[in-house]
Order: sequence, then C-alpha cells, then structure tokens
Amino acid sequence: TLGAAPQTILEKIELADGIVEFVVHSPLIAKSAKAGQFVRVLPWAKGELIPLTLADWDEKAGTIDLVVQAMGTSTIAINKMQVGEAFTGIGGPLGQPSALHRYEGNQTVVFTAGGVGLPPVYPIMREHLRLGNHVTLISGFRNAGLLFWTKEDERVGKLQAEFGKQLDVIYTSNDGTFGEKGFVTGPLERLLNEAKAGKGRKIAEVITIGPPLMMRAVSDLTRPYGVKTVASLNSIMVDATGMCGACMVPVTIDGKMVRKHACVDGPEIDAHLIDWDKFLPRFNQFKTQEQISKVKHGF
Ligand code: FES
Repeated sequence: TLGAAPQTILEKIELADGIVEFVVHSPLIAKSAKAGQFVRVLPWAKGELIPLTLADWDEKAGTIDLVVQAMGTSTIAINKMQVGEAFTGIGGPLGQPSALHRYEGNQTVVFTAGGVGLPPVYPIMREHLRLGNHVTLISGFRNAGLLFWTKEDERVGKLQAEFGKQLDVIYTSNDGTFGEKGFVTGPLERLLNEAKAGKGRKIAEVITIGPPLMMRAVSDLTRPYGVKTVASLNSIMVDATGMCGACMVPVTIDGKMVRKHACVDGPEIDAHLIDWDKFLPRFNQFKTQEQISKVKHGF
C-alpha cells in the first residue's frame, strides 16, 4: 500500500517537547489495522523509512494516528511537517497483531510503558479492556514536562472514565515531578510481590514497550516470578519483509539461538527468550545522540 493514498497530515498535536501526534489520512490502513501493528513511513522521496507503531486509527474517518519523537535527523524533520503536507508513503499495517487472551477471575494484564511507549501500548490496552480483562498501566515519563495523554480529556483519562475499576493507572517519573518517583520497575516489583503473597491480583502477563534498557529491566524483573512477559520492539528496520536482517532479535529456544525478525515475527517477542546481551548493542549500531543519552540516563 506504499504510496496508495494521499497520506496527508490532517491534524498535528504537539504533545510535549519533541513529541508530536499526527492524524494522517490513510483509509486502507485504518480499515485493516489491528492493535500491536505498525506502519513504515517514507516521509519524503529518498528519505529514510521509519517504523512507527499505530497509536490509534479511525476506520470511519479513514485516519491513523502516529506519535513521533524527535530523535534523529529524520524524526526531527518529520516533526516540522505541517497540516496539509503529505508523507510520500505509508506502508502497512505490518507485523503480527497483539495476541489477546481473556483472563478470568482476579487477574490483571500489566502494561509498562516508557515515554513514547505509551502510544503503542494504548490500542493494545484498549483491546484487553474491551475483552473484559482487568488492566494495570504503569506509565513512566522522564519528568512532568514530557507528559501527554494523562489528563481527563485525553486518551488514558478517557479510558479511565469509560472502564472505571477495570483499569488501574500508576504514573512514574524519573525525577518525581509526576506520580511516583523512579522507574516503572518500582511499582511493577510491588505488584509482583503482592501477587506472590496472594494479596493483589494475579498477574496474567506483562507487556512492555519503551526504551530497550527499560524493557530489559522489566524482563529481568519478571523472570524469577515466572510471569509471562512480552516486549514490543520498535527495532531499526530497513525492508520490513524479514529479508535484510536489520531488525534481527536473537532469542534462545530450547538452548538454541534462533534469529527472529521484529518486522515479521514481531513486533511482540517473548521477552524472557530474548538474548538481551546480544540484542541491546544492536540498538547502538546506528547511534544517535538521543539513544546515547537514553543509555546514560538508564531509561
Ligand atoms: Fe529487514 Fe526486518 S526490517 S528483516
């Protein structure tokens, strides 16, 4: 579907410093999109293809929502695009839709989102709520200046109004300017311990989306508890067909190293199978200032 539609920007919302939400005309993708899938955006001819997870879509309006954080040259330039301008192409939806299960009884599905991990988490979370599952969202921001979607009339706030007690939301910020001080792993550890002690809800699964180091920290934390954990990987991608190897994820199955590809096998991969020691350096092979700073700051 690359280049099949005009891909015009209909709305541009500045969510926070360097973070922009675009509502883009893309009826074909809006019609077939499923939670957890992503698109590849070719911002302009001869540009770099950028994989972006769908933050939302509206089949009736024929629009998709993309949240872009200015990180490298391309994303900085994309975020300067204005309403009325059009992307050269948007291909998708790509990747496997999120695996959805109905969890009965006193169970919860925990989402840990780091920064702009919140937009890709949002549609998956909404599907779980619609299925009837209880959901706990732990959403972390670096500081209060980078918040978005948290107010009553914004996406997470609206979900809270719609689903009431079916959704618990815990916010964290690295510097304590919003929610609990610290990282998403703090509240997650508390929930894991409560569940282990038979006090809280049983954790059916953990889904984590955010900076690679955060996803690794979440995976390391849940492993000894034996709680199923899924990481949705926004890897570096080139062809998105499973051929080029750019998005390779080393996983270990039955003691054997297997190459998975985030573009076709993912973006969701069982976090406990990922060989994080081998995988994390792959994010650094195309170093940008932003990634260096993220690694330095932990999240
Ligand atoms: Fe090339 Fe996934 S992007 S194999």
